[in-house]
Amino acid sequence: MDREIARQLVDKYVKKDITRRHLISVEGVMRALASHFGEDVDRWGYAGLFHDLDMDETEGDMERHTRETVAWLRAEGYDDEQVLNAILGHLHKDHQTDLMSRAIVHADGVSGLLVACALVRPDKANGMKVSSVKKKLKEKSFAPGVERDKIRGVEGSIGIPMDDFIATSIGGLQEVAPDIGLA
Ligand SMILES: [Fe+2]
Repeated sequence: MDREIARQLVDKYVKKDITRRHLISVEGVMRALASHFGEDVDRWGYAGLFHDLDMDETEGDMERHTRETVAWLRAEGYDDEQVLNAILGHLHKDHQTDLMSRAIVHADGVSGLLVACALVRPDKANGMKVSSVKKKLKEKSFAPGVERDKIRGVEGSIGIPMDDFIATSIGGLQEVAPDIGLA
């Protein structure tokens, strides 16, 4: 798959701009994590970019969420089984079977926090520091929807220390920031 075509699929299936921006932010973080682990940057990026593709359609129906996305992607002719598994894995534990499908859980969590941090900074994602992100992580009233366990549990789950994880993720967000109004 081509990255342009992947983005077009997002435009085709996603209704809300906030969902589009969330998907692209997780794409950026997943690409940076892939690079950190020496994995396939594009394929990890697609897992991030597509993981909530059906969110606006399934709206909290957890039975359909992710499964609808996989059905749509298959119908589009996309059959990268590892990526499809990772999409299921961000919600379903029984699909958290490899590094990509475990990493996406943490990428999902941290991207929410990073985007919230960027939105309250004059320079948005530019110049964002690990220390200030960690401060916001401790502040429970800041972006309360962020599942902080997903960020704190990263080292035990995929073996990257939290500071490295946050630094890598900031780099990933910065790469896609111009696409989501955060540059
Ligand atoms: Fe998500």
